[in-house]
Amino acid sequence: MRKLKIGVIGAGARGEGFARELHAGTPRAELFGICDLDADRLKKFVDYCGLKGARTFTDPDRFFASKEMDAVMITTPDFTHRDVAVKALKAGKHIYLEKPMATTAEECRDILRAQKKTGRTAFVGFNMRAVTLYERLKQVVDSGVLGQIVHIEGLEQLSIAHSASFMRRFHRKRQNTGGLLNHKCSHDLDIILWFIGHQHKVKRIACFAGLNVFVPQKAPAKYCHECPADIFAACPYKDQAGFVFPVGGAQPIHHRKRETYGGDLCVYTEDKDTFDNWTLILEWDNGIRGNFNLQMFQSRGLRETRLWGELGTLQFANGALRTTLSRTGDVIEHHIPAASKGGHGGSDPRMIGRFVAAIEGKGPADSGLAEGLAATIVAQKALESALTGKVMSIAPEEYGI
Ligand SMILES: NC(=O)c1ccc[n+]([C@@H]2O[C@H](COP(=O)([O-])OP(=O)(O)OC[C@H]3O[C@@H](n4cnc5c(N)ncnc54)[C@H](O)[C@@H]3O)[C@@H](O)[C@H]2O)c1
Repeated sequence: MRKLKIGVIGAGARGEGFARELHAGTPRAELFGICDLDADRLKKFVDYCGLKGARTFTDPDRFFASKEMDAVMITTPDFTHRDVAVKALKAGKHIYLEKPMATTAEECRDILRAQKKTGRTAFVGFNMRAVTLYERLKQVVDSGVLGQIVHIEGLEQLSIAHSASFMRRFHRKRQNTGGLLNHKCSHDLDIILWFIGHQHKVKRIACFAGLNVFVPQKAPAKYCHECPADIFAACPYKDQAGFVFPVGGAQPIHHRKRETYGGDLCVYTEDKDTFDNWTLILEWDNGIRGNFNLQMFQSRGLRETRLWGELGTLQFANGALRTTLSRTGDVIEHHIPAASKGGHGGSDPRMIGRFVAAIEGKGPADSGLAEGLAATIVAQKALESALTGKVMSIAPEEYGI
């Protein structure tokens, strides 16, 4: 049986993993080709990833017009997602669209409308749902062991290098992402909304966020290469390897467009309007409340989750998943299945597998579009709350198209 041919648009950090995976060949799919607007970047990408024989395109229209291509993985920056996704759907391609779905709720709705019209398979890249830990957490939540759920808490903490990468690339500007909460944490918001269940809708949000550490007053120079040697030597933020293309490389390949792709723009420079810490409070229509925190500058990245219910608490912290029962104090340690092989804790190959299965009619065809909209609504309202100091409401109809 013919394998599906899948193209990748966006020859960057995220595209790297998918292009490599597809080029190596999966049981039911193979790489068709790569598209990027920037010819220089495209060439470096194909050479670095060893994608011998891959077709390359710098014109998305020609790329989408390719008859042999069945589907496309969209790994371009957030602000392009709506236009690229709608164009791909209209060209009859199935799409796997990286998170966040788009930068605003209205852009997400445009993608949903295009998917409804074309009937193509559409996935949002919420790969955390394919991480065995979160699958296990969801099972425990749904088992009812906590009784009536009252509160959920999520935390994402970023390492020094990861934090730095968000201060000097396209995502340092809100207009490119819809805000860092949307860009970085639409994953985490999706997981929180998934645990509570999408039949329940968040109806109120309050958010406090700010730039406390990466403030322009501390900038010794605009770029690292202009920085006084002693300050540069002591700066912990000069290294961002691992979070920019090439992900496997020791240091980013520097490009003409250093502020777009990642380079040595000073993390303190005023050329950004992002925040470096976020605290969010949520209330659902069924009375459940929750909070989420994004924090930076730490020795390592981590995520933690806690749920409180009438019958107990469930917590994932320090690598352990455990329930503590309220009435007896008994502690249940939950086994976390080993992560499968591959990028992002094994979730990347699993997501490609689910995408291919959906295209072949063996799984849900619309995986994550409504949820992508919900996560972006929450992130957008959170940003509005942080900027205005107001508690924001979400009307039920805002979750529709
Ligand atoms: N699921 C995850 O865990 C995860 C992780 C990292 C990034 N992402 C997402 O992946 C996307 C890309 O992030 P990245 O870090 O790889 O960015 P990147 O800057 O490394 O790469 C993006 C590439 O897209 C190209 N591009 C820009 N506009 C284009 C267009 N209209 N058509 C074709 N090519 C275009 C750029 O030239 C660049 O090469 C973002 O939306 C990000 O949120 C998801």
